[in-house]
Amino acid sequence: MKKIFVGAVALLAAGYLGLSGIAWYHDTLHAESSAAQPVASAETAQIRDILNRNACYYCHSATAALPPYASLPGIRQLSQYDIDKGQRYFRLDALFNALRDGSPPGQADLAKLERVVTNDAMPPMRFRLVHWSTGLSQHDQQTLLTWIAHQRKRWYVTPGVAAAFENEPVQPLPQALPTDPRKVALGMQLFHDPRLSVDNSLSCASCHSLSTGGVDNRKRSLGVRGQLGGVNAPTVFNAALNHMQFWDGRAATLQGQAGGPPLNPVEMASASWQQIVGELNADPSFANAFVKVYPDGLSGPNITDAIAEFEKTLLTPSRFDAWLRGNTEALSREEVHGYQLFKSTGCASCHVGANLGGQSFERMGRAGDYFAARGEALTEADNGRANVTHDPRDRQWFKVPGLRNVALTAPYFHDGSVTDLREAVRKMAQYQLGTTLSEADVDALTAFLKSLTGTYVPPSAPMSASAPAPSPAFAAQP
Ligand code: HEC
Ligand code: HEC
Ligand code: HEC
Repeated sequence: MKKIFVGAVALLAAGYLGLSGIAWYHDTLHAESSAAQPVASAETAQIRDILNRNACYYCHSATAALPPYASLPGIRQLSQYDIDKGQRYFRLDALFNALRDGSPPGQADLAKLERVVTNDAMPPMRFRLVHWSTGLSQHDQQTLLTWIAHQRKRWYVTPGVAAAFENEPVQPLPQALPTDPRKVALGMQLFHDPRLSVDNSLSCASCHSLSTGGVDNRKRSLGVRGQLGGVNAPTVFNAALNHMQFWDGRAATLQGQAGGPPLNPVEMASASWQQIVGELNADPSFANAFVKVYPDGLSGPNITDAIAEFEKTLLTPSRFDAWLRGNTEALSREEVHGYQLFKSTGCASCHVGANLGGQSFERMGRAGDYFAARGEALTEADNGRANVTHDPRDRQWFKVPGLRNVALTAPYFHDGSVTDLREAVRKMAQYQLGTTLSEADVDALTAFLKSLTGTYVPPSAPMSASAPAPSPAFAAQP
């Protein structure tokens, strides 16, 4: 009896929405034909209208008022599961703010939106069955895809990318980032200077060697006195392109990041910046060189500023970049196929941008329980982003790592639990996308990932084309 009642209400609600849906549709057609020329604000209004009409806010905004039909019995229960899940995995609020004040929408958000629009995946089918006025029309889809292309062109295109690749979720590395070469030179020295550690045993390079892909290739890093750290070391190469640093994103900038290790008791364990500054000041030649660039002399903020400046030079262009810049011969057919799979299976909606990651936090195990399958006891580090936000919903969310040079940076994941790149690819498909890849697809994806191994040109190396070619800072790919 109750079920029949709920069903009837659902049908009524659906009918109501259906009718208003048709009215909306006519409005849009009308608006379209009378619009003289598309201006940015008209485009923004169109996007908001599409998102409104299709109840996108209903499941993807924490703040938007729910539409009236949400309170009808049955309707609400029907999609509470979708609302909870939708809110966890995609927030329109950030996108909406960007629409409102013309700031850049997140690159990962754009890629995800593109994916669901292209696959006609949203709203979810079981929602559309009841709310049959929703579902993106072809015109809606085109409008959204055009908006995404405009946003990418406005905010994210790397200068020099081939015209055909301007609208890709992944972009080539920039040729260089603006830096002050004098600070870079100091930062390079400091990066290799063990005096940053309590017993002069470790420098940044001890765990981020530039000749081994910017990592230590250990499951978890070893700090001073052989102390075992909590997570696997990510690479410093291309880290300047990340929106946040560390697996849990607890540092916003490279400078903020560089302030961590020297005083971290498990890493370099210095007692204070004073202690480090005292030791460096006892070296007059270094202290004098430093004061020439930083007139107020050695200090924590100045030391980390110089290191961060140096890290901005750690870019590693690869064959993939040459390909995106228009050299069609730079990749093999299998590598190109791997890149197509990288986009079509959905890897690129998390591993997005010039570093193929570093732009967003994602749940490890969004499509299956990675941690249960791992078997090892849970650690504090497994809490990921929640350690910073203290929001239980952020448990097991991590910064999506960049994938450049990934062939050199084993073992993989924040816990360093996987040693083989092919296995990491399989696990990603399983736990992030809920799919099982064929071995041929694993081959192609892995071949593509290997094409991301790049070359680092140290800032001191001769830059002119006539000078002898600088040797690659780490092994060329096999
Ligand atoms: C009834 C609730 C509901 C509505 C309405 C809805 N969504 Fe979703 N959305 C979900 C759920 C649930 C997920 C998570 C899907 C999953 O991973 O299983 C999701 C995921 C997404 C994602 C993330 C996909 C990814 O790869 O992470 C995007 C983008 C998205 N929705 C956009 C939209 C847009 C645009 C609309 C309106 C056209 C919309 N949604 C309407 C429930 C909804
Ligand atoms: C004992 C080994 C060790 C030392 C020494 C060390 N690091 Fe790290 N580094 C790590 C580990 C482990 C992480 C990941 C920590 C986390 O995410 O919680 C990390 C993270 C980073 C990141 C963030 C990269 C990303 O994608 O999130 C950067 C950048 C970095 N280190 C640079 C430095 C610099 C600069 C120094 C010297 C001041 C330094 N590291 C010293 C082990 C080390
Ligand atoms: C829903 C977002 C998401 C999707 C989709 C996704 N990844 Fe990931 N990827 C992550 C996160 C988050 C991590 C880090 C997880 C951890 O360390 O626990 C990661 C880690 C990785 C790593 C290990 C990198 C390292 O340095 O440790 C590789 C390799 C990788 N992904 C490849 C892929 C491939 C290939 C695909 C497509 C088959 C894919 N990913 C799809 C979010 C995603």
